[in-house]
Amino acid sequence: MSVAIVQGSAGGLGLALTTHLLRHTSLKVYALTHGSASDLESKLSHLPAERVKVIGKVDVTEESSLQKAAEQVREETGANQVRLIACLAGILQPEKSLSAIDIDSALQSFKINSLGHLLTYKHFVPLLPSKKDFNEMTADFNQGKEDPAKGLISKEGSLCFSLSARVGSIADNEKGGWYSYRASKAALNQIIRCLDHELANKSSSALAIGYHPGTVLTSLSRPVVGHKAQPKPDEGVFTVEQAVEHMTGVMSRTSREGREGWGGRCWDWRGERVPY
Ligand SMILES: NC(=O)c1ccc[n+]([C@@H]2O[C@H](COP(=O)([O-])OP(=O)(O)OC[C@H]3O[C@@H](n4cnc5c(N)ncnc54)[C@H](OP(=O)(O)O)[C@@H]3O)[C@@H](O)[C@H]2O)c1
Repeated sequence: MSVAIVQGSAGGLGLALTTHLLRHTSLKVYALTHGSASDLESKLSHLPAERVKVIGKVDVTEESSLQKAAEQVREETGANQVRLIACLAGILQPEKSLSAIDIDSALQSFKINSLGHLLTYKHFVPLLPSKKDFNEMTADFNQGKEDPAKGLISKEGSLCFSLSARVGSIADNEKGGWYSYRASKAALNQIIRCLDHELANKSSSALAIGYHPGTVLTSLSRPVVGHKAQPKPDEGVFTVEQAVEHMTGVMSRTSREGREGWGGRCWDWRGERVPY
């Protein structure tokens, strides 16, 4: 069995990614949401029910809920079947100036956007196969048996994948504003870098990357881009479906091999590196 974990499965991008994985792969998908399981189950009811397990009430600010979810996955699938851990949790407080800073809201941004991803990895990374286990698992794929990931995730290794954002880049910050969102995504980028080193040092099959999807029309971006905004792919503004096409395209290219050096870095929807 090959398993994908999608944390933040009921959000705009999370639901589109979960749907895409169920439609275009044979992976078993664990769909984690901080909302109720029944709400998400009804949104996924038109998809193959035997391949999706919804776990509700997984709040990334409550470590115990992540621990419980990881224990459930371990009990149901074993310890080393996870090919993808996708972390999508994120909130945006678009402060325009210092006067708009509210400490509780800013802390919540860090708890969800940075530490929420860190805690998700703390509990789910132990379920990733080692390099050796992964090679055994995928040996069959090289001899004709179909890879359940069907090319949407690299055949070369597992993947820890966090939704970051270009505005988390310090080098690219030409405008200012959005203090807590920018800072929490910059912190997430540092977390991804540390995680990638730990995975490599411990001979995990996985690498870790951050990802910027472009501007995607979801409940997170609508208050900023406007409720009537339309997708403009030429200007980097996408529907969730377009964004997930790009996202899985980048996922499929990730590798520790070659000159690109994917691990520990942030990549955009074109597959180009976002500087830290
Ligand atoms: N939309 C864009 O233009 C854009 C651009 C750059 C980066 N991003 C990033 O992409 C990610 C997904 O955002 P989106 O655009 O799809 O926005 P969204 O529809 O508002 O989704 C927000 C996500 O955060 C999750 N979440 C919020 N609080 C949580 C909590 N306490 N515990 C667990 N999960 C929590 C929600 O998951 P559940 O409801 O399933 O729990 C949902 O997946 C975010 O990290 C965002 O920063 C988005």
